[in-house]
Amino acid sequence: MEKLRGVSGVIISGGPHSVYDDSSPSVERSLLTAGLPVLGICYGQQLISQLLGGSVRKGDKGEFGLAILDLLDGDSQILKGVRDHQQIWMSHRDVVTAPPAGFRVLATTSACETAAIEDPVRKLYGVQFHPEVVHTTQGARILENFVFDICGCKKDWNPGQRIALVEDQIRQCVADRNVFFFVSGGVDSTVAFTLCLRALGASRVRGVYVDTGLMREGETEFVERTFRALGAGVVDIAHCEKEFLEPLESAREPELKRHVIGEQFVRVQERIIETRGLMDDRWILGQGTIYPDTIESGGTANAATIKTHHNRVPGIQKLMESGRIVEPLADFYKDEVRAIGRQLGLPAELLDRHPFPGPGLAIRCLCSETEEPVTRVPEGWLIPVRSVGVQGDSRSYAPVLAIEAFPSASSKLQEEATELINRTAGVNRVIARVSVREPLEHHRVFSSSITQGRLGLLRRADAIVREMSHESGFDAKVWQFPVILIPLGTAESRDSVVLRPIGSVDGMTADSVAMPDDLLHAMSARLMAIMEIAGVYYDLTHKPPGTIEWE
Ligand code: XMP
Repeated sequence: MEKLRGVSGVIISGGPHSVYDDSSPSVERSLLTAGLPVLGICYGQQLISQLLGGSVRKGDKGEFGLAILDLLDGDSQILKGVRDHQQIWMSHRDVVTAPPAGFRVLATTSACETAAIEDPVRKLYGVQFHPEVVHTTQGARILENFVFDICGCKKDWNPGQRIALVEDQIRQCVADRNVFFFVSGGVDSTVAFTLCLRALGASRVRGVYVDTGLMREGETEFVERTFRALGAGVVDIAHCEKEFLEPLESAREPELKRHVIGEQFVRVQERIIETRGLMDDRWILGQGTIYPDTIESGGTANAATIKTHHNRVPGIQKLMESGRIVEPLADFYKDEVRAIGRQLGLPAELLDRHPFPGPGLAIRCLCSETEEPVTRVPEGWLIPVRSVGVQGDSRSYAPVLAIEAFPSASSKLQEEATELINRTAGVNRVIARVSVREPLEHHRVFSSSITQGRLGLLRRADAIVREMSHESGFDAKVWQFPVILIPLGTAESRDSVVLRPIGSVDGMTADSVAMPDDLLHAMSARLMAIMEIAGVYYDLTHKPPGTIEWE
């Protein structure tokens, strides 16, 4: 309470803990009795309820992803102006079963009796869903109600000024040193690089693009073109394919893959820095890290580690601790980074690219330690290819359920998938079968690692999908379109391809997007005709409970 003196209100966020566990984060009870407006989101609502004598327990089933908000009370402060039956985004298993005395329940969903509560006398508010994510259609309205009406804050910042601010921060952080970037050709590192160029001038900024052998078809050529346009000689290419592929062949577990790539990056970085005489204190490292990378790597105090991003591995951490790093975009979300890029005059061809993860195709090339059969279950087939997901703000690593229905655009299979995962313990994704050479009962999961051959297969599939979605205009309708290789197949062809087109605004939440039937038929027919694969599948899973990438 001492630290919060003078604030206008407090938002207690969601988080991966359960309020009834001993070690879970809490607040002083007096925070809730001081007359200060408090909004609890998800875990925050549960914490307010528990501290004030309500009850919280583990729900019978989870509620992950899309839900519909049913209003009970049209006359609330926190939900003022929110229309009935709006789409909201949920990610929880724990529920408030009885709100504390003095609170009214404002809204429910089909799976949650206490989706929103308030006690306007004590200025305490709670929502079980996430108003802060884009998939909650009227989430911004709820936050505005709290910040402006309830807390009485005034909007006094101007987003247009942020470029100048960021450039100031860069000059302050870099001081009289120079910045060296490892650029990826993605939006984030290119925007960060351009900001540094503007802030410091071309003589003080240098970049290298490391060809890891894990990038998409045509990527190196694209990067060369893009940076040549920013200034001759500011960026050059280092060919390091072998250095990455060799250690990766024995790394199958996703976090291990990320660590191998991360450590390799640091090694390559150190070598490049050394051979270019950049070792002395006059140089620091620039990075395009954006805010979601920090949250999902457990970089904020109470966020669970869902996956390690390669720019947060120990080697880089050391550079950060010694202050030799500048990350101009660390406070921004993806949509903001694109807006900055537009203001900087970067070409749309670059800014409208879908995001692509730094560790590249390696994380989309799934591996298995063992050979295992698929299992018949009432809903379809349990496929023992494990992949990373996020449920209740924690990491999951679970098998996938395959259903034998064609994911036609009119089928609403995505809604069914949400329900199936909420109901089926131990599964974090649902895929629909688009096309297979042999019936699924003849398929198995093969022991597999990352090899040149499998990477080549994935690179080809990715290029075909990219070309077809670009030509049809479908790529403009999705935020990202990962193509994944999974070791599911038959003796003749041991791998299958998963298509994962998703909609999102900031990558924090996402929905599986349906594709026009004729495009999907054409795409899978072409993949099956050209490539040695056993099948094509379609990922129906939203984030949460899936992540965007499979890993
Ligand atoms: P997930 O899979 O966590 O992805 O839902 C969220 C967004 O982050 C991208 N992503 C990465 N980007 N380095 C990056 O620069 C990484 O290691 C990394 N891993 C995931 C992912 O493609 C999606 O846009």
